[in-house]
Amino acid sequence: MSVTNDPLAEGSDILADEDPGSGLRSRRVRFPGYDTQVGPLGHLADERRRLDALEWQHFDVHRLAATVGAELRGVDLTAQLADPVIEEIRGALVDYKVLFFREQPLTAEEHVRFARRFGDLEVHPFIPSNTGQPELVRFAKSADVGGYENGWHHDVTWRAEPSQGAILHAIEVPRTGGDTLFADAHAAWQGLDDETKATIAELVAVHDYMQAFANQVPPDKVDETRAAYPPVEHPVVCRHPRSGKELLYVNRFFTSHIAGWELDESRALIDRLSRQFDQVEYQCRFQWEPHSVAFWDNRAVQHYAASDYWPDTRVMERASIIGDRPAR
Ligand code: SIN
Repeated sequence: MSVTNDPLAEGSDILADEDPGSGLRSRRVRFPGYDTQVGPLGHLADERRRLDALEWQHFDVHRLAATVGAELRGVDLTAQLADPVIEEIRGALVDYKVLFFREQPLTAEEHVRFARRFGDLEVHPFIPSNTGQPELVRFAKSADVGGYENGWHHDVTWRAEPSQGAILHAIEVPRTGGDTLFADAHAAWQGLDDETKATIAELVAVHDYMQAFANQVPPDKVDETRAAYPPVEHPVVCRHPRSGKELLYVNRFFTSHIAGWELDESRALIDRLSRQFDQVEYQCRFQWEPHSVAFWDNRAVQHYAASDYWPDTRVMERASIIGDRPAR
């Protein structure tokens, strides 16, 4: 068998042949026989350049990837931050979509206090909380409890008003592994072909907590829980309330089907759209240290917690800020 490294080898399908850069080749090509493309993702360039030009007053910024993720340096989250600092953090979250902070030894009270500066907080009905602070979901993984957050998802899309953002604090981290990855939902939408964008523009998807949490509801609580959290509908493509950007808004954890579509067709589309988040160029990856903090915009990114550290211990606490109804 002969193997070629030349992506433009005979039989390859040339998907784009423009040259938006100064003399650079920007062809996307598909390998014959595979649904895999290689080549530059040119649609990231404008956003990358826009982010390159930003300046901030209250912190320094170290970007992690092309369009998503920035570490903010020079902010002490354990302190009572002045309103202008909070406003600037809010703005940076819109631009970078997920923010990271190092060496923030927050107490549970300080974590909740910081998160409340951005809105009221959720209490999660299924995941255990920090016993002292019901608004802090506690992910305590060990030999006895594996990590099951290793799939791309927005948090709590089964709520009629899913959280607008979440702040995750590392209490104890494994020696290796346990990274969290974030993927840009606007880049994921932009990267779709025009026909798919047109197909999904007006679609609505149904989200249901039963897909992920059915086995966490005691049998005698099923009816009560179902009444409190009926399946909800959200647009497949929603718009960010501040940036106005289109965001791909389906995930395999909670999206059960497309409203009005057969289940098989629905699942095939949801699966295909969800695979957009696999594109490494839309992602950043964060390696935790004790007392690192991540603050993500829960519309603008999906996240994925690598589950590669079992049977070691990883303990995280998350505060989630109540959001509004996703809209087109
Ligand atoms: C989550 O899915 O919200 C948890 C993320 C993590 O533990 O890294």
